Amino acid sequence: MNSPDPQLTRRPSSRKTSRSQAPTDAGPPPFGLLYGTSDAMQALYRQIERVAMSMATVLIVGESGTGKELVARTVHDKSARAGKPFVPVNCGAIPASLIEAELFGHEKGSFTGALQQAPGYFEHAAGGTLFLDEVTEMPIDMQTKLLRVLEAGTFHRVGGTEEMKADVRIVAATNRDPQQAVADGLMREDLFYRLAVFPLRVPPLRERDGDVPLLARRFVSVFNNNEKTPKTLSTKSLDVLQGYPWPGNVRELRNTLYRAFILADRVIDLPTPGQARTASSRVSWQDGCLQLPVGISLADAQRELILGMLGHFQGDKRETARTLGISLKTLYNRLEAYNGVPQESSSL
Ligand SMILES: Nc1ncnc2c1ncn2[C@@H]1O[C@H](COP(=O)(O)OP(=O)(O)OP(=O)(O)O)[C@@H](O)[C@H]1O
Ligand SMILES: [Mg+2]
Repeated sequence: MNSPDPQLTRRPSSRKTSRSQAPTDAGPPPFGLLYGTSDAMQALYRQIERVAMSMATVLIVGESGTGKELVARTVHDKSARAGKPFVPVNCGAIPASLIEAELFGHEKGSFTGALQQAPGYFEHAAGGTLFLDEVTEMPIDMQTKLLRVLEAGTFHRVGGTEEMKADVRIVAATNRDPQQAVADGLMREDLFYRLAVFPLRVPPLRERDGDVPLLARRFVSVFNNNEKTPKTLSTKSLDVLQGYPWPGNVRELRNTLYRAFILADRVIDLPTPGQARTASSRVSWQDGCLQLPVGISLADAQRELILGMLGHFQGDKRETARTLGISLKTLYNRLEAYNGVPQESSSL
């Protein structure tokens, strides 16, 4: 059994600073991969601590960007299976015709194109944890097969006869309300009950009192380490960050900070909420797609696209300019303009 995590016993230090630049030290240690010391997160850590060492199937629910994948990895890392593989599978991203072979593997010649025998995710995860992400997006007939495997503890490769032992711990996740997914016919009820032996709810960021500044400092410290820079967050920025509801949760916080980080010379300044415009406050990047609300101006859309793309390429301006089909000089001009002029909008 792992020794108790310091995060479980440590309380947030609500240190106030009189300096205009907030400290960007690493802060309290994480619980597994998760940062945050709010009561809501501490309650989650206690549940993870309890369930990790068991073989119980875990269903992680929570809004997009709350950190479900990090929770799944933390459950694995704190389990007796930690030294074995953690295999994430995005059930929504695999074409319906391939999902069975991807999960269970296939024998040579079992379907057109099956030139070689190949193991599936169950075999790759043997001894470890199989993370079924977006499980409600799995086709219903596949859910039936999955349930059968979970009940029997054995499976066959597609086209195979050999009975294989399913030596995996299943952790699943969804950003839907699973009971609603059952009511909508997206998820089999029996699979829901089989998966939700131990449900874990990841709280949205707006419920995590005091975690926004902690996460913000943590992210800035990571960016500084990656980019060998000494940038700091202004205390005004911390106030701005705390005054925003973060509908896109931790992912949105991280992306927003990264964009501001790239634009900053030394001190990271975020626009005050008064400078933010309603339409553009609903701009969001999700799974590689930029969502723009009706009502956004062309200039704001362009700005979000450029900054989002720059974030996507982790600050690589050459690659960003090439992909956007603009010259490097134009990109620099835009960035300079966005940095120098008080922004009338942002994702804040
Ligand atoms: N508590 C946390 N500490 C540090 N980083 C976090 C935390 N929670 C989330 N993150 C970061 O936020 C981002 C989103 O997290 P993650 O991908 O796990 O969210 P998700 O709930 O799986 O979202 P989705 O439903 O859209 O797949 C990642 O960059 C992750 O590293
Ligand atoms: Mg996810």
